[in-house]
Amino acid sequence: MDEITKRVQEMYSQFPYPGLQGKVSSLRWGYDLDFILAQAGSTKRIDQIRVLDAGCGTGELLACCASVFPQAHFTGIELSHRSLEIAKKNAAHVEAMNIEFYQKDIMDVTAELGSFDVIICSGVIHHLSQPEKGISCLAKLLEPGGIMTLYLYCQYTRERNVRIKQAVNILERDQSKFRKRIKIARALLNDYQLRDIALVDAYLHVNENLYTARIIFDLLQRCDLRFLRFCDEPMWNAETLIKDKEVVKMIQALSDDLRYEVLDLIISQAINRNAYEIFAGHDSYEYRAVKEFGKGSLNLYPMRSPFIRIEKDKAHDNIYNLYIIHHSKSPLRLQLSAGSVNLIMKCDGSRTLGQILEETVDESNINTTHQAAMNESLKLFNFALNRDLIIVRPVPSGKAWENIKTVDFSKA
Ligand SMILES: C[S@@+](CC[C@H](N)C(=O)[O-])C[C@H]1O[C@@H](n2cnc3c(N)ncnc32)[C@H](O)[C@@H]1O
Repeated sequence: MDEITKRVQEMYSQFPYPGLQGKVSSLRWGYDLDFILAQAGSTKRIDQIRVLDAGCGTGELLACCASVFPQAHFTGIELSHRSLEIAKKNAAHVEAMNIEFYQKDIMDVTAELGSFDVIICSGVIHHLSQPEKGISCLAKLLEPGGIMTLYLYCQYTRERNVRIKQAVNILERDQSKFRKRIKIARALLNDYQLRDIALVDAYLHVNENLYTARIIFDLLQRCDLRFLRFCDEPMWNAETLIKDKEVVKMIQALSDDLRYEVLDLIISQAINRNAYEIFAGHDSYEYRAVKEFGKGSLNLYPMRSPFIRIEKDKAHDNIYNLYIIHHSKSPLRLQLSAGSVNLIMKCDGSRTLGQILEETVDESNINTTHQAAMNESLKLFNFALNRDLIIVRPVPSGKAWENIKTVDFSKA
């Protein structure tokens, strides 16, 4: 193990992250297994799905995913023994029997661990001594057509954290003196609420790399991976970020890479989040996300995202407010009619799109023709799909709906 990795291990042994033993059992935005599998158009049944959480920390995310999808098979690997011990307790706390844990360095993993349909690596790659080696090792464990999700710090919005660490370094350079550095950082931040573990992770980390969209695209390419989409892809939309139609057109005319690069320079501030969450897949695999609706797609199983909240509008009859709960501190709000809400609520992953459409057409106004009602519903489906309000998979959901609680970041 190299010197940097040893120091990272030591840090997380002293400050196991997130370290919320027995407290967190909420699904984090972006880690809904149905949502991840939908990106690959996966036709596997949920009991055939193998998921790896690489650098699972104290396992809150893993335990939650495993309890929401009790038929899928989960593996957690982690550098810090102490974090792993807490992770096992968290799994036991939510009675998740479908997780295996191993103490391992991501940069050393081999095929012995098995192969995975989904590899989650949240908040880890940017702390590796050799991020490229880590991603390459994980890529070798990814099944053909598998999906990797990465959470990587954003260079443009982490400036404050970097500045605080620089100031602490001037006052106490010795990185092993955590107690003294925590005291100084607290004073500089004037924050006496933040838990020590969260403060060390955010402001005093012993090894941290920062990324931009461009850097991520290049990094993935060097690891024979392909960028598939940002987790919050609907946000990366020139039309919603910029009012001037001419400039929007200029941006839309760019290649995908350049369009993302331009939006990257403005989006992080606009939506107030400090990391990228991305889906990647094998470069050579032809991924077919299930995005189009047509006759052939009526046998898809739509399900509403667990990250939407629907409330009746207080001022207007027949109008509903739909809030999308994501990492941005300000949840996106959409206004929908009662008919639209009815259609979205029917999407519970148990019936096909064809069945749902027939049902809504039957319920619709008798003055409308069958075809017009069908078109109206299809239009709404497309709208909802493009904003990730619903997820579509070719197989029924493996979700235990009763276990789903979601984190509302706007209230965090
Ligand atoms: C910020 S925490 C994230 C924990 C968890 N993924 C989450 O999102 O809550 C980073 C974790 O990565 C682990 N880690 C860092 N380097 C690692 C490596 N080379 N191999 C395995 N785990 C590593 C750390 O021990 C730590 O628990």
